[in-house]
Amino acid sequence: MCGICYILSFSVCPRVDDVLKGATFHCLTRRGPSSSHQLIKSVNDLGYHCLFLGQVLHLRGPLTPQPTEDKNSNIFLWNGEVFGGLHVGNMDNDTRVMLCHLSSCNSESEILSLFSSVQGPWAFIYYQATEHCLWFGRDFFGRRSLLWHFSSDLEKAFCLTSVSALVPEPNDYLWQEVPASGIFRIDLKTCAASKHVLLTWYPWKYATADYITKDISQDNVDEMANALPKFVSVVRSETGLSLIVPVAPLNRTLPISSAEHHCTVSTTTATAEDLQIFLSDGHRKKLVHQLIDALDKAVKKRVVCLPRCTDPSRTLTQAPKSSERRANVAILFSGGIDSMLLAVLADHHIPLEEPIDLLNVAFMMKSKNQQTGSGKTHIRQKLPSASLSCPEHSQTLDILNGALHSPFNVPDRITGRAGLKELEAINPSRTWNFVEINITLEELKEMRQQHITVLVQPLDTVLDDSIGCAVWFASRGIGFTNNNGEQPFTSMAKVVLTGMGADEQLAGYSRHRVRFKAHGLEGLVEELGMELSRISSRNLGRDDRIIGDHGKEARFPFLDEDVVSFLNSLPIWDKVDLTQPRGIGEKLILRAAAKELGLTASAVLPKRAMQFGCRIAKLENNNEKASDKCKRLQSLSTQNVAISLQE
Ligand SMILES: *[C@@H]1O[C@H](CO)[C@@H](O)[C@H](O)[C@H]1NC(C)=O
Ligand SMILES: *[C@@H]1O[C@H](CO)[C@@H](O)[C@H](O)[C@H]1NC(C)=O
Ligand SMILES: *[C@@H]1O[C@H](CO)[C@@H](O)[C@H](O)[C@H]1NC(C)=O
Repeated sequence: MCGICYILSFSVCPRVDDVLKGATFHCLTRRGPSSSHQLIKSVNDLGYHCLFLGQVLHLRGPLTPQPTEDKNSNIFLWNGEVFGGLHVGNMDNDTRVMLCHLSSCNSESEILSLFSSVQGPWAFIYYQATEHCLWFGRDFFGRRSLLWHFSSDLEKAFCLTSVSALVPEPNDYLWQEVPASGIFRIDLKTCAASKHVLLTWYPWKYATADYITKDISQDNVDEMANALPKFVSVVRSETGLSLIVPVAPLNRTLPISSAEHHCTVSTTTATAEDLQIFLSDGHRKKLVHQLIDALDKAVKKRVVCLPRCTDPSRTLTQAPKSSERRANVAILFSGGIDSMLLAVLADHHIPLEEPIDLLNVAFMMKSKNQQTGSGKTHIRQKLPSASLSCPEHSQTLDILNGALHSPFNVPDRITGRAGLKELEAINPSRTWNFVEINITLEELKEMRQQHITVLVQPLDTVLDDSIGCAVWFASRGIGFTNNNGEQPFTSMAKVVLTGMGADEQLAGYSRHRVRFKAHGLEGLVEELGMELSRISSRNLGRDDRIIGDHGKEARFPFLDEDVVSFLNSLPIWDKVDLTQPRGIGEKLILRAAAKELGLTASAVLPKRAMQFGCRIAKLENNNEKASDKCKRLQSLSTQNVAISLQE
């Protein structure tokens, strides 16, 4: 994870000191604590000046300071990981490898084919010296954050940054996430002459001809242009060049007799036997194993190649005992099926003597007295209706409502501990650090104001606030373990695996059931197609800013290009069956995979949204809609920045 930043000026050279004193610089430093550099490029005769700033979090290969510059004065800032498509040797740094390829590109189309071929998350800024061009963009899913800001002020006409702590002046334009809808080029020479920022857009396009017309329409350009100030324009590249989408298109095939897939939803309780039935079909069993294979490779790529045992003061003979060692990999862990699968697969590839940190966050529940009257019904409303019919879950509810020993025994804590038991049974020789992260209202308020608000922006809903805060505390990894009695524990793992993307692809959310009931399989397929296309703007930029703030890097195995391609290639009926109850029907193929990998109870746990599972959604205000603008984020932002700037 790195923090990258770029400022374009049409008047004077941007003043490094101004930038370095600001709160944004502080945020960028938190993302990339390993090295910090700036570079200024002033082209006086053409009238443009650029400032490049790079903060690096060192993860593999030799530390490569950023910005990097080649012998032709091309300048490159890279916040990404090459997991495939280009060869990066174990001891190489991907920043260097990328710049090397870029330097040898002689045309636009070569640059585009380079970014089409890279697999993995990225956001980049590239200055092509001879052409006086600036290129920038985010990967197809938008797994790395990049924000832009335009201003009529010639001194800071255009800025790009991984994260911004600046709240715009009243009449200023807002910071926005750079759309992950392609990459962009600015011809600096032309723009300097006209004092006008013109963006050339190269969209993503599917390789298959059928999809071309569908994806590229004037609408996209207009939509983008509408969100920008008047003095900025966006045009589709005249050459018609585009990037090739790195994943296979979604299989939209529907069953021939869709009557069979009638939308009556069974309300029985999910059991592992239901998975057995699914697996008894030879074809399906084969698909399940193909999925396991793809996911296993995706996890492997994300947990190997980390600096291990590189401490030169230690020789092999004095290697520390397993329980004293530090984990290199942590997992955002609720004990639900997604995080359980990641844990099992990570266990296959991480050296046995290295612990794995399971980060489990809980927000303090109000005690029963404070919750009088309506409290009980509230919890009931928030839990899935299907689980209410099940006696075990009613029992859980009773625990939640009253007989609690600790106000932190939230649903995700309970399933997390149960998940830990399953993992210990699967691999008793591994040290599993189950990190109990207990957060009080006071701490939530304090950290939201000091850190989280600026990271969430420009997103601003109640849901963004809940998830942003929950993920921030979880990935910070400060809590307690119970391996030898309750002890304070801080996770030092720089890589954080998250299950993001599983629900979007495999119909995990309740809105999928709503859609299916109303519009059948066709509606469901349409919904799933739409979900992946908006995951960048809904989730991933935000999560990257949040997790990166701890100098850690989020990695998303369910969004690996090969995993997505495999799932996209399957017809809907091989992946999910929403006529089956919750706990089976959604993410059906994933549940079958979990069962094949030896998981038991967790394989049939119904999906529970994070904000409810960790109880953050109940802590402050019960009467808000997830999509409402969050007042706690708004009122704090100006105040917060005022404080940071005074420091
Ligand atoms: C990695 O970065 C270092 C430092 O910038 C550089 O010396 C080295 O050649 C790079 N490795 C590769 C393979 O590019
Ligand atoms: C954290 O919460 C758990 C309940 O889930 C409780 O058992 C534990 O004692 C708490 N730890 C601290 C330090 O509050
Ligand atoms: C979509 O699924 C159907 C049914 O399995 C299959 O016949 C077809 O080849 C798939 N299409 C693609 C593009 O993968």
